[in-house]
Amino acid sequence: MSVPRSASNTTTAVSSNHTPLVDPTRFPAVADGEVRAAHRLYEHLIGIWAPGVIEAAQDLGAFAALTEGPATAAALAETLGTDLRATRVLLDGLSAYDVVQRTRGADGQAVYTLPAELHGVFAPDGLYSLAGKIGHDRNVAWSAWRNLARNVRDGARTSDGAEQLNQISEEDYTSLVRGINFWAPPIVRPLAERLRTTGWGTGSGRTLLDVGCGTGIYSHLLLKEFPELSATGLDVGRIVPIAEAQAAQLGVADRFRCVTGDFWNDEWTGDTDLALFVNIFHLQTPESARDLLLKSAKALSDDGVIAIADHIVDEEEGEDSTQNRFFRLFAASMLATGGGDAFTVHDYDQWLSDAGLRRVGLLDTPMHRVLLASHA
Ligand SMILES: C[S@@+](CC[C@H](N)C(=O)[O-])C[C@H]1O[C@@H](n2cnc3c(N)ncnc32)[C@H](O)[C@@H]1O
Repeated sequence: MSVPRSASNTTTAVSSNHTPLVDPTRFPAVADGEVRAAHRLYEHLIGIWAPGVIEAAQDLGAFAALTEGPATAAALAETLGTDLRATRVLLDGLSAYDVVQRTRGADGQAVYTLPAELHGVFAPDGLYSLAGKIGHDRNVAWSAWRNLARNVRDGARTSDGAEQLNQISEEDYTSLVRGINFWAPPIVRPLAERLRTTGWGTGSGRTLLDVGCGTGIYSHLLLKEFPELSATGLDVGRIVPIAEAQAAQLGVADRFRCVTGDFWNDEWTGDTDLALFVNIFHLQTPESARDLLLKSAKALSDDGVIAIADHIVDEEEGEDSTQNRFFRLFAASMLATGGGDAFTVHDYDQWLSDAGLRRVGLLDTPMHRVLLASHA
């Protein structure tokens, strides 16, 4: 298989996430550069307000209530058992981020509506819900960011001085993995297309190993794309039932099994036709990332493919690309919660070469790149 680098993202526009909170046209003509810069930075510093109001609303059950229909602050306060004025303040805060729409009712009172496309996003069991991500941020991220300066000073090391992997608890993963399924569809679609164009999916009895599978969403969507495929997910004990339940929910349980294991210390199933790593490499140190590829090479069939979907910096794309900016910032979030990094295409090429592998493709998706590799 020889595949050039290409962009596979769809052209459908996703609205910008930036909600302007400072109006630059309101500066007097004489405002000096430092004052303007302070306004710009202040807008970043109040970024914490967005998760503040969204998470509070989720905690209080406001989104669940608004899923039933639009409400005034008074009606919502009664449903939630919250203070009327404070509920109005919270709803107005949400409307500043376009999370709820604020309109005037016939009697002049503000009415708040949760747009239909956000109903599933806040539902605890929604397939593409962010509820798990919100829970994770409350349990882990808020306090972890306080550690960033220390980790930058000391380099996120274990007590014996070694570089640290990013490792949160199994319990914290049960929340997080349920909050990142939404990343899957724009990753699976171009990956499946690319595999198909290379003839990969045509053989019968093809096998997929999904290393650190989480809910198994990538396996489940790929199983729907390739009816001949069967998949094995590998993850820790508390995650396995989540992945198996979701396979049943998505109608692919007959071709999916999830096994409990430690992807470092346990053997992987051999002769794998597709070894999939999604959001696994950004948890690694350079050394452990290289080791993962050495292990993958041994588990891969002769014409097998390794697919790594992650926050992969592509230096050739230029410093200013939105993806590279996001990936480098993602690395800071990894450092805050432990170790890990956003590695570059160049890093991957080195490790692949060490493992007797070579890169055969690089796909772009909204918040990831997918690096494809096979035996050299
Ligand atoms: C960031 S999540 C990614 C989950 C999934 N691949 C996705 O992208 O939705 C990392 C996953 O790796 C699993 N994991 C981490 N270390 C592991 C290990 N040593 N052995 C097996 N699974 C592990 C975690 O339990 C978690 O489900």
